[in-house]
Amino acid sequence: MQKKEQLYEGKAKKVFATDDPNLYIVDYKDDATAFNGQKKGQIAGKGVINNVMSNHMFQLLEQQGVPTHFVEQLSERETVVKKVSIVPLEVIIRNISAGSFAKRYGVEEGIVFKAPTIEFSYKNDDLGDPLINDYHALALGLATEDEINEIKAMAFKVNEVMKDYFDHLNVTLVDFKLEFGKTPDGKIILADEISPDTCRLWDKTTGEKLDKDRFRRDLGGVEEAYQEIMRRVMGK
Ligand code: CDP
Repeated sequence: MQKKEQLYEGKAKKVFATDDPNLYIVDYKDDATAFNGQKKGQIAGKGVINNVMSNHMFQLLEQQGVPTHFVEQLSERETVVKKVSIVPLEVIIRNISAGSFAKRYGVEEGIVFKAPTIEFSYKNDDLGDPLINDYHALALGLATEDEINEIKAMAFKVNEVMKDYFDHLNVTLVDFKLEFGKTPDGKIILADEISPDTCRLWDKTTGEKLDKDRFRRDLGGVEEAYQEIMRRVMGK
């Protein structure tokens, strides 16, 4: 497969066209931000970890019947994925209160919910990705009603698979973010990444934070967090 022109460059990855009109190549970068984007730097090996862990999770999810954009890993940082148009929604599933949820509603972290929650943000950098509900997403034409229902069902299914998977690694899946894409024939599939960038993970026994929260102030520390998650997930 031939890697062709670059189509997009974001914070964490670049996307390239290929000689196959239905396939793209994603190339993960080491760039990172802390302090909500105010502090920028590089985390050695972050691109590799995000690539390898995402592909691992996508294959696990495919085995459990969740369609994803994953096709084939090409190298440490590069993966072939199906071409999709991204649905401009960030879909966040939470099992336990933490982060912006705890802040927004003035509750402590660590409350185990009776049932998982779902929330949507409108992916729009200029507006700062505002929180929206299903009706707003419909009104804005971001997705159809059927697509929103499908996205919700898939997101909860992903949660069940991932919760169970992390549980076996003695890790609690607190919350995570997903993005979905639409293939040229209109099918909704899981896209983007599932990585230490997008999941909040705590040690099941000690409650210790294994994720970026532990080291928010220090990019050197974040590197350690990524490696710890990688060790648990990939056994290395
Ligand atoms: O992580 P933070 O407190 O800033 O925000 P949150 O709303 O509590 O994030 C919930 C989950 O979604 C966390 O696991 C984040 O890492 C993830 N997330 C993400 O991957 N990308 C975003 N733009 C926002 C949240």
